Amino acid sequence: MLSRVVISLAVLVASVAAAVPSVSKRATCSGGRTTANAACCVWFDVLDDIQENLFHGGQCGEDAHEALRLTFHDAIAFSPALTAAGQFGGGGADGSIMAHTSDELADPANNGLDDIIEFQRPFALKHNVSFGDFIQFAGAVGVSNCNGGPQISFFAGRSNDSQAAPHGLVPLPSDDVTTILNRVGDAGFNAVELVWLLISHTVGAQDSVDDSIPGTPFDSTPSDFDAQFFVETLLNGTLTPGNGISPDEALSPYPGEFRLQSDFLIARDDRTSCEWQKMISDRANMLARFEQVMLKLSLLGFDQSTLTDCSDVIPTATGTVADPFIPAGLSTDDIQAACSSTPFPTVSVLGGAVTTIPAVSLNS
Ligand code: HEM
Ligand SMILES: *[C@@H]1O[C@H](CO)[C@@H](O)[C@H](O)[C@H]1NC(C)=O
Ligand SMILES: *[C@@H]1O[C@H](CO)[C@@H](O)[C@H](O)[C@H]1NC(C)=O
Ligand SMILES: *[C@@H]1O[C@H](CO)[C@@H](O)[C@H](O)[C@H]1NC(C)=O
Repeated sequence: MLSRVVISLAVLVASVAAAVPSVSKRATCSGGRTTANAACCVWFDVLDDIQENLFHGGQCGEDAHEALRLTFHDAIAFSPALTAAGQFGGGGADGSIMAHTSDELADPANNGLDDIIEFQRPFALKHNVSFGDFIQFAGAVGVSNCNGGPQISFFAGRSNDSQAAPHGLVPLPSDDVTTILNRVGDAGFNAVELVWLLISHTVGAQDSVDDSIPGTPFDSTPSDFDAQFFVETLLNGTLTPGNGISPDEALSPYPGEFRLQSDFLIARDDRTSCEWQKMISDRANMLARFEQVMLKLSLLGFDQSTLTDCSDVIPTATGTVADPFIPAGLSTDDIQAACSSTPFPTVSVLGGAVTTIPAVSLNS
């Protein structure tokens, strides 16, 4: 009799508990932080762990930059054109680059990603989250550590099953603009969206294109989520910062700064140059466009309606960034304005002689 009451009470409690989440899923997780859905609580644990142990105390350093780069290299290997031709077209943001690393890193476009994948994998395993979710989460958290960084959405629930992506789907820095537009177009991005994706290069450096100068940044402020990348890529290139030049590289305007050939061309191409220049004149727009296109990138291969919105776990960036400027030693005369319909915006010019841009310090 008593046991029967206990059982029916237990059934009642269980059914009430089951009914509650569909009414309100707001959950309080360990540490008292709240999120819109109980399924997101695990991501606070991942957050604490990676901020401390992957990003060295919440920094926008090399690992944060590489984590952002990895979101692209996992996701963009997605080709409806291959699928239409009856071949495997890749699974998008499915974590395949972490599950099938030796295969995918044999694609030269993925050069230099071995370190960040090996650093990240143990965290994904420890917290028992899918590789695809982990890569997109770490990229969003890493870039939130940059001064003035974006607030990228994060949706959780990607399947952990994947096959190695076909090679040749990740753009190379030696590709011409038409090749790059066709490739990202196949994955669903138009020319202005390509420019929005490349906002990422404002927090980046190269290690592997010229391995004699690892940590050589793409702009003078690689920890700031500012528009300097768009200004500095338009300056007249006059020098090579390292060991000669390759088809992946264009001449740079400053010692210690690196310019990818693809960035050089996309900055000046009729199909992309006006959107490029627009990034310099409207920072709020730049942030909003990056947030928009990164969500789209993170969903490649997945149906958003089957995933859970855990965006409220992503930290809000702090820090401020300067308005766009021309670093010391060069002037407005050195700008190769390429948008025919709109004049180049007014930017300040720092006084003084050219100085060498300091490298991003590398992990030991
Ligand atoms: C046309 C497309 C792109 C090309 C050809 C390209 C190429 C490259 C290359 C060659 C590097 C240097 C890698 C190294 O030497 O270690 C690099 C770095 C980087 N890329 Fe891209 N990229 C493209 C688009 C993107 C996108 C869409 C993202 C992110 C959404 C991204 C994020 C980054 C970041 C953050 C770095 C810096 C990594 C670091 O500092 O270690 N790139 N990219
Ligand atoms: C994801 O797949 C890898 C193998 O590729 C496996 O080691 C890992 O345990 C899986 N993680 C989850 C959460 O299922
Ligand atoms: C890890 O995740 C997988 C897939 O979601 C699940 O089947 C498994 O029970 C989980 N393992 C642990 C130890 O929680
Ligand atoms: C760009 O720099 C080169 C020197 O490498 C110089 O000859 C050329 O006049 C410069 N162009 C502009 C527009 O300043």
